[in-house]
Amino acid sequence: MADPVPQILTVDDDPHLLDIIEHHVLKWGYAHRGVSDSARMFEELERVIPSIILLDVRLGDEDGTTLVPRLKKRLPNVPIIMITANATIETAVKSLKSGAYDFICKPLDFDRLHIEIDKAIKHNRLSLQVRAFQSATRRTDFHGMIGRSEPMRKAYRLIETVGPTDAAVLVLGGTGTGKELVAQAIHECSRRSDGPFIAVNAPAIPHELIESALFGHEKGAFTGAHQQHSGFCEQANGGTLFLDEICEMDYDVQAKLLRFLQDHVVQRIGAKSAKAVDVRVIAATNRNPTVQIQNGRLREDFYYRLSVVSIDLVPLREREGDIALLARYFLDLAAAKYGKNMSSVSPEAMTLLEAYEWPGNVRQLEHLIDQVVITNNSTELAADMLPPEMTRKTSPAASHINTQTDSGLDKTIPSIRKMEQNLIIRALELTSGSVQAAARHLGISEATLYRKIKKFGISRTFVKQQSNNTDKSTSP
Ligand SMILES: Nc1ncnc2c1ncn2[C@@H]1O[C@H](COP(=O)(O)OP(=O)(O)OP(=O)(O)O)[C@@H](O)[C@H]1O
Ligand SMILES: [Mg+2]
Repeated sequence: MADPVPQILTVDDDPHLLDIIEHHVLKWGYAHRGVSDSARMFEELERVIPSIILLDVRLGDEDGTTLVPRLKKRLPNVPIIMITANATIETAVKSLKSGAYDFICKPLDFDRLHIEIDKAIKHNRLSLQVRAFQSATRRTDFHGMIGRSEPMRKAYRLIETVGPTDAAVLVLGGTGTGKELVAQAIHECSRRSDGPFIAVNAPAIPHELIESALFGHEKGAFTGAHQQHSGFCEQANGGTLFLDEICEMDYDVQAKLLRFLQDHVVQRIGAKSAKAVDVRVIAATNRNPTVQIQNGRLREDFYYRLSVVSIDLVPLREREGDIALLARYFLDLAAAKYGKNMSSVSPEAMTLLEAYEWPGNVRQLEHLIDQVVITNNSTELAADMLPPEMTRKTSPAASHINTQTDSGLDKTIPSIRKMEQNLIIRALELTSGSVQAAARHLGISEATLYRKIKKFGISRTFVKQQSNNTDKSTSP
């Protein structure tokens, strides 16, 4: 179903004018109702809430402007356009002061009325969107997070406990499980909540620039250091530094960060002295730290220093009941964001959403709902709007594959690794090499995509360079 046709309600005691207005309004593609006085207007409002009210200033003995405050109280989002015969500034100002959206003078210029109505409809949609957005974001269960499953409640309790302390926290969990959101929640629960929250996404920063990005540099400290620059550690003074994807940081950078954690001082590259800072550190990784320590990707001393407390976020499929809550939440957000009327999920679609594995966790669900809302105009999210991999289990094609012999399967089905690699290349091709856009398509974070690009050794020809300085020798 497409968007409903906007309804215009005109209140004017001149029946002839009502007819002419109706004629034009219908011609412009809107629905119309005309009434002659305030009593009939309030009756009509019991029946239908219009998109716009055209209200005559002189309604027989009544003064239309006095009705405006009552109308605004009852229908705060419905714009009121006053129609005024005596085109005096005073009437106009009076009606605008009492809350009218705009006014138009008699004799009516219908081209102008058309423009005014279009403008007011857009305004009305926007204010509805803002309201829906605000109400959706206010509804979160804990500091911007949705989820009432036992593992999430446990995480909230832990955040509340460690938030106010200055302890370093390590957030663990698969891609898209909400690690950054947890870091922000900890920051909000701390005495630092008014201070900065600085997130450092290691894989997105070129290798040779990471040290200066973290600790800053003085002018002329190395080739290309044209200006003095404060690093993230310094910028986070008085607040929280969030180190995302710590296993992607070089060993020596980890060592420098460890020293920073112990001494609470920052020395810019090329600076003669160090500066004391007050920073709380939260780190995250979607890898298993124990394995990474064994592989030599994560320093053990750095890990111990960071994991004074660790919060482990379970995969979305293990959060009982949360998929439905998140799906409805993201649906409301997306409907508000894109000005759509979709407001419910069919039971069949919900069953499919709840049965799916969600390898990309919450982020994947969020992006899927976004896509469905953008590409459909109905009021309900239905099963046939979901991608085939969600419906496959029950589709005839799937049962066909399942009955194939083992030997046939070996040759026809590529490995998951290969499929993932191809998918990434396809996404990069589709987005002309934009890692940001490709990550969005794939429902994973940019950081995860960078890591996978590196892991699979995907050729640089597929990836658009972020900026030219990536290849310059800027290392100190
Ligand atoms: N519990 C939740 N409630 C609402 N939104 C959530 C929740 N968890 C995650 N999100 C949303 O999902 C997206 C991914 O979350 P976030 O970036 O925190 O995940 P992440 O674990 O850091 O992912 P990655 O490992 O890929 O970096 C964000 O848009 C975030 O707002
Ligand atoms: Mg993250």
